[in-house]
Amino acid sequence: MARLLDPAGRKIEYLRLSVVDSCNLRCFYCRPGDSCEPRRARAILDRETLARVVAAAATLGIRKVRLTGGEPLLRPDIVDLTRDIAVIPGIEDLSLTTNGSKLAGLAAPLAAAGLKRVNISLDSLDGKNFSQITRGGRLRATLDGIRAAYSAGLLPVKINMVVMKGINDHEIENFARLTMEKDIHVRFIEYMPMLGQEDPWREHFLPSSEIMARCAALAPLVPVPDTDFHGPARNFRYAGATGRLGFITPVSRHFCRQCNRLRLTSDGKLRPCLFSDVEVDLLPAIKNREDLAPYFYEAVRAKPAASDRSPASRGSELGPRGMVEIGG
Ligand code: 5AD
Ligand code: SF4
Repeated sequence: MARLLDPAGRKIEYLRLSVVDSCNLRCFYCRPGDSCEPRRARAILDRETLARVVAAAATLGIRKVRLTGGEPLLRPDIVDLTRDIAVIPGIEDLSLTTNGSKLAGLAAPLAAAGLKRVNISLDSLDGKNFSQITRGGRLRATLDGIRAAYSAGLLPVKINMVVMKGINDHEIENFARLTMEKDIHVRFIEYMPMLGQEDPWREHFLPSSEIMARCAALAPLVPVPDTDFHGPARNFRYAGATGRLGFITPVSRHFCRQCNRLRLTSDGKLRPCLFSDVEVDLLPAIKNREDLAPYFYEAVRAKPAASDRSPASRGSELGPRGMVEIGG
């Protein structure tokens, strides 16, 4: 079967699966202006369907899969789903992005089911600030989740911090120091504008260059070569430290050129690019038990070389679906 190669010559090897569209937290930057009303329920793909999609993708050269949400650990069958995907031939790397709030009890079973690594979203090390940013989340739960991920061997544990000026930028140094003491990868992510949220975004945006300068003021940063499959982060460590610091620049320097990913939304649509509204609906083909390969080729053909909607190119914003459904 021909591999997935897009018109810009990028080899598509990475599939991000949004396995649920809801979340138990309401982070300021992700669910802006969101009331705490439950979202309109949409059909979520069942376990068997998700495994089928991944199996089809694997025959086309997808080697890396990440489970995202919403919050993937809200899916009652997340451990079984992980196991189903982990055994699919060709899938070399299976990881998950979580807010960590439910990880304490799930890290060990997930690792046993074949999960390799986790990325945990953590924007504050201060209980009060954490609860404000997440609108009610408990820091303790996420910290317990991080510890459990360690003990379960889900390594390296990566912590994603979305940096917002005036909200958590005073904590940059504390996050950076974590990497001196622990084998933890802290990734500082630029705050991206979401639809209709230009104002708070402008007020709170802090470019990666400044975040990096603040980290470098603590001690010199030593560059670390990229060992991921074209990960979006530029990585560093402090001399003698085991942990790492990564800087992710969706706004100031978009990484379209190395982008090797496709996304599947929680309701079964392939999205070639986070910043493009193009979607290829897999549901009819799934229902008819058709071969899914042509739909993957179609999505890959539609992948923009460099999206003119990425914030880097137009100061633009994410489309109407938002991260919680597309899966970040
Ligand atoms: N800006 C930057 N990152 C975001 N995420 C969600 N919304 C935004 C945004 N507006 C990413 C972060 C977070 C994950 C769940 O999604 O990485 O940790
Ligand atoms: Fe939930 Fe993550 Fe969005 Fe926060 S950023 S509301 S934890 S999906």
